[in-house]
Amino acid sequence: MIPEIRKAVPLDVPAITEIYNEAILTTTATFDIKPKTVASQRNWFKDHGKRNPVLVAVVDGKVVGWVSLSEYSARCAYADTVELSLYIKEVFRNQGVGKRLMTAVLAEGQKAGLHSVISRIAGGNDISIHLHKQFGFQDVGMMKEVGNKFGKLLDVYIMQKMF
Ligand SMILES: CC(C)(COP(=O)(O)OP(=O)(O)OC[C@H]1O[C@@H](n2cnc3c(N)ncnc32)[C@H](O)[C@@H]1OP(=O)(O)O)[C@@H](O)C(=O)NCCC(=O)NCCS
Repeated sequence: MIPEIRKAVPLDVPAITEIYNEAILTTTATFDIKPKTVASQRNWFKDHGKRNPVLVAVVDGKVVGWVSLSEYSARCAYADTVELSLYIKEVFRNQGVGKRLMTAVLAEGQKAGLHSVISRIAGGNDISIHLHKQFGFQDVGMMKEVGNKFGKLLDVYIMQKMF
């Protein structure tokens, strides 16, 4: 299975929302707890300008994963720093989709002149940490027990890639 990787368009927002909501409800990868509405994700999508790509992976015409480089902070001096999010529909995980999206979004970020990409990864998400290391992300540090989801206290690892 080789997914097509392309820039997301507004029509993709319902599928992006569905994939994110699956992760909200079944994983500790995101610290959101309540599912998002398509309307709120449309606003999220609109906030992604030229230097904040959102890409999707498509298999047989269906979106099976997405990645974004979102604004890290509205404070202007952070303008060249972004935060990465990456979510693959559960049945399509462990088939190379994450790697393809990561490759593509980092190329876009570099082309856009960004300087630094931050990922916040929940403790226990060893697959995500492994994937980030493969792409040259380095450990910044760990925030202890800053999350509480499904009755479990969760650490957050911060990883960073520089262009
Ligand atoms: C983490 C995630 C994005 C990885 O994407 P993916 O498409 O499943 O990963 P890939 O198939 O591209 O594999 C990437 C690497 O992880 C490994 N991997 C993936 N799933 C694995 C699994 N279930 N068990 C062991 N290793 C696994 C792959 O073998 C590969 O490593 P390799 O190149 O050394 O073989 C995806 O699993 C996901 O969406 N998880 C839930 C949400 C999440 O955790 N997002 C990240 C938030 S920081």
